Amino acid sequence: MTGTGRVLYVIVCAAGPAGDVGKLVTMAQDDGWTVQIVATPNALDFIDVPALEKQTGRPVRSRYRKPSDPKPPRADAIIVAPATYNTINKFAQGIADTYALGLLAEAPGLGIPVVVQPFVNSALASRTPFRRAVETLRDEGVHVLFGPGQFEAHPPSAGADRVDSYPWHQALSVIAQITGVPDNPAANPIRRWDQHTDARTLATILIKKHETMPRRILARLSAAPGEAVDADTLGRGVNATPEQVAEAVSRINSHAEAFGFIPLVTFEGAGYLIDPSTAHVVADALAQIDR
Ligand SMILES: Cc1cc2nc3c(=O)[nH]c(=O)nc-3n(C[C@H](O)[C@H](O)[C@H](O)COP(=O)(O)O)c2cc1C
Repeated sequence: MTGTGRVLYVIVCAAGPAGDVGKLVTMAQDDGWTVQIVATPNALDFIDVPALEKQTGRPVRSRYRKPSDPKPPRADAIIVAPATYNTINKFAQGIADTYALGLLAEAPGLGIPVVVQPFVNSALASRTPFRRAVETLRDEGVHVLFGPGQFEAHPPSAGADRVDSYPWHQALSVIAQITGVPDNPAANPIRRWDQHTDARTLATILIKKHETMPRRILARLSAAPGEAVDADTLGRGVNATPEQVAEAVSRINSHAEAFGFIPLVTFEGAGYLIDPSTAHVVADALAQIDR
């Protein structure tokens, strides 16, 4: 078990990807978190409890403690993944009839950041109770990673095909953003912007960090994928000196690197450019921000 003393609770529900939750544990430990697994009682059938206890060095918890048992350490952050239709709906309604839901019931009131990453099919996701639950939780400040660029519902009976691509890393990246515990780029040192389901979300977060001028540089370059634009021309278009352009590009790329991604903007021969495979991610993120 590694750890900085900051405790991440990973709440695992009874859905297909639950058996792979050890992947999230590994990534979180690489980022310096001490991980506490909490399983819903139904999820116990989906996970390898002894393997997870060995990996985390802590008991997997699924029931409320006895009043005489010592209090476990408080969570600094909580990820619910995979989050079921059942647990999401109950969390939104304030039901606390499992230990997992009891933790979630208090978390927003205690100011503990919560990221919920669902795994549901489109039949469940289309239901009014589910859509309302997502909205209610977001209104309370819970980060529900559901929708384009995040987890998207699969057709009924197709869940098994989606287990391997379940984006565990995305939940952790969002927790890293919220808590300031840096996402460890070493875990994914050369991530390409066109090959990760969380790239658009991260590009949006990254671009939001920057002021108007760097954003206009990204808009100009992503509108002409692969076309090199020299610093003077780029600067004239955004009211900046070539030095300011260079500095803005350098800061954008430092953030990309901190997320474990290759640079967004590269310099080749005549000037700056955004690779065609990256440009559409940038353009999508800019459009998302402008909406
Ligand atoms: C093999 C299997 C796979 C399941 N997959 C899902 C799923 O992907 N998403 C979901 O919301 N429920 C799924 N369910 C149903 C949940 O397990 C069920 O709603 C359960 O009550 C959820 O309990 P929990 O939310 O306390 O973990 C699955 C059930 C089984 C037996």
